[in-house]
Amino acid sequence: MQTMAIIGAQWGDEGKGKITDLLAEKCDLVVRYQGGHNAGHTIWVNGQKTVLHVIPSGVLHPHCLSVIGHGVVLEPENFLAELAKIKGITPVTPENLKVSATATVITNYHKLLDAAREAQGPEKIGTTGKGIGPAYEDKVSRRGIKVKDLLDKDTLVRRLSNGYAEKAVLFKHLYQIEIPSIEEEVERLYRLGESMKDYVTDTFSLIDEKLAKGKRVLYEGAQGILLDIDYGTYPFVTSSSTAGAGIYTGAGIPGKKLEEVIGVAKAYTTRVGEGPFPTELIDDLGEEIQTKGHEFGATTGRKRRCGWLDLPLLRYAVKCSHLTSIALTKLDILSNLRELKVCYAYEVNGRVVECAYPGINLYGAKPLYKSFTPFSDDFGGGKPSKEFEAYVAFIQESLGIPVGIYAYGPDRNQVVFRQKYS
Ligand code: GDP
Ligand code: IMO
Ligand code: MG
Repeated sequence: MQTMAIIGAQWGDEGKGKITDLLAEKCDLVVRYQGGHNAGHTIWVNGQKTVLHVIPSGVLHPHCLSVIGHGVVLEPENFLAELAKIKGITPVTPENLKVSATATVITNYHKLLDAAREAQGPEKIGTTGKGIGPAYEDKVSRRGIKVKDLLDKDTLVRRLSNGYAEKAVLFKHLYQIEIPSIEEEVERLYRLGESMKDYVTDTFSLIDEKLAKGKRVLYEGAQGILLDIDYGTYPFVTSSSTAGAGIYTGAGIPGKKLEEVIGVAKAYTTRVGEGPFPTELIDDLGEEIQTKGHEFGATTGRKRRCGWLDLPLLRYAVKCSHLTSIALTKLDILSNLRELKVCYAYEVNGRVVECAYPGINLYGAKPLYKSFTPFSDDFGGGKPSKEFEAYVAFIQESLGIPVGIYAYGPDRNQVVFRQKYS
């Protein structure tokens, strides 16, 4: 297998970082293709925790080339801080980390605008406040700044001037916020550009070359399919193409088809921020899963909302990205619960719906549940219980693709492979 993708199959935080780190061992490149430092990807190795935001989750394997593709929105200050931190853990140099010259830059204006909009409402998205949406807006309206623009002051002034007058009026009269002047922002960005220039390259051609040489490439998604700008639960989504399609526009795999697309899903469901969540547990059991699963956002520290596994949404995710297998995580959190349920379908206006679709009114979807005998496996190396097997088998049959990996703890080694990924 030469190309593989790891994509969140729910609303993010499914354990993509852990699975990417695990499979990166067998790969030559790990490529981020969308999102930015709104992501928080956690890896545990021998009791040491690493949280990555924009640096790919293969970075702990020094043989692996980490690539930040052109579909990513990059906040240079955060990138450099993350880089400094990660250098204390593993060797990272311009040889094994590359940043696309045409990735879009998140400026201070984007962060301020994100925060101001969230404060103003009336409909809050519950964003991470990192400036992601406003940066993608500027990209699409052709006013964005590319990483390569940071390396030339004149270009930077010219690019930053586009839309500045509009932003200045907006900040002053609508949000009553003081914003940095163009000069200040140019100085700041130019300085940051100088610090990161050794890492900047044409990653499209780099990936193309590596593929031609038969190197193995793993594309690491951020967020999840249900947060996709087109497929997700709009408007409560992020501003990028989190689904598999984002790989083609955000990194480029010239002439190559993705051979394996692994959807990472928790054995239950979580969501941070606002938006519909049909299987949400707003009771003691929801609290119990939240506490036991340490369900706090890795980027913002916010409590994650928790609920039962939602198969109509997962079936939809399988279709949106042509998932070929599932990595099912956090099964240990479900062990020893007093109750265990899965939503196998919804009732919508008196009709049974087995698979969600774009625009479905999730607020009007009544989950239909199947109850399972709770399992109490300790995952200590013995044979899984028949109750555990029944739970996993039901998910697999319902989705029509194999559960190729399951995880039962945060550490790199706390996994079972049920199929080979080689
Ligand atoms: P990502 O954004 O998809 O990479 O996921 P996050 O890192 O935001 O959140 C997943 C959380 O679950 C992290 O704290 C992981 O360390 C943890 N985790 C991943 N897999 C498992 C698992 O199987 N069991 C347990 N208990 N924790 C896990
Ligand atoms: P990883 O990669 C979970 C959510 C936010 C909010 C919405 C929009 O760690 O899985 P944004 O800041 O992107 O404009 O926020 O998307 N969100 C995430 N939720 N995991 C993430 O990333 C997320 N990135 C953004 O909470 O609801
Ligand atoms: Mg996360």
